[in-house]
Amino acid sequence: MVKISPSILTADFLELKGVVRQLEEAGVEMLHIDVMDGDFVPNISIGFPVIDSLARHTELPLDVHLMIQRPQLYIERFAKNAERITIHYESDCDVAATLKQIHDCGVKAAISVKPKTPVSEIYPYLDMVEMVLIMSVEPGFGGQSYIPEATEKIRELRAECDRRGLADMDIQVDGGINFKTAGEAAKAGANILVAGSAICDAADMKQAVAEIRRLAAE
Ligand code: DX5
Ligand code: ZN
Repeated sequence: MVKISPSILTADFLELKGVVRQLEEAGVEMLHIDVMDGDFVPNISIGFPVIDSLARHTELPLDVHLMIQRPQLYIERFAKNAERITIHYESDCDVAATLKQIHDCGVKAAISVKPKTPVSEIYPYLDMVEMVLIMSVEPGFGGQSYIPEATEKIRELRAECDRRGLADMDIQVDGGINFKTAGEAAKAGANILVAGSAICDAADMKQAVAEIRRLAAE
């Protein structure tokens, strides 16, 4: 079954508690936290104080997506609250060492590729992660349109995981997931769908989550 990881990036942060309650009631499996540093991406978003508060107020696992340079400097701090930490292949770090650092903290590790990075570049790391995140927009902002080429990358990655006997590999897709694109991404092999604006900007979040789930299961 497909899991839904809503990104709270476009939520009203003064209403975060209410947003989280609605997402819990909608039955989402986790919360997707987009961390941006104004360097790896041209935007600055959520940091430790907000994540600490979230962790105090929800039982939902925190799916932390680091869009930052030098993630190795902050892994231990994020690991205090994260269920899983995703780093970018393109970020300024020793990827294998940083993935090991995440595991050493007792947290699941994941690697992400930006739209222009061929997915085959992360194949050497497949044995070191529980999840691969395929970016379907240029990282940095919510509310962008799904880049269609992401679908083929997901398909290619799922086939490679199957070839290697990695049946349990989670494939997450992030960016522009909505009622139009959820089905296509899921059919290609993504089993964790990140959706920000499609859920958090919806008048009825519960209905939006249910609809994305239904479309993904078709
Ligand atoms: C983009 C972030 C995404 C994004 C999702 O850099 O990683 O998580 O905010 O938002 P939507 O679903 O609106 O594209
Ligand atoms: Zn994200």
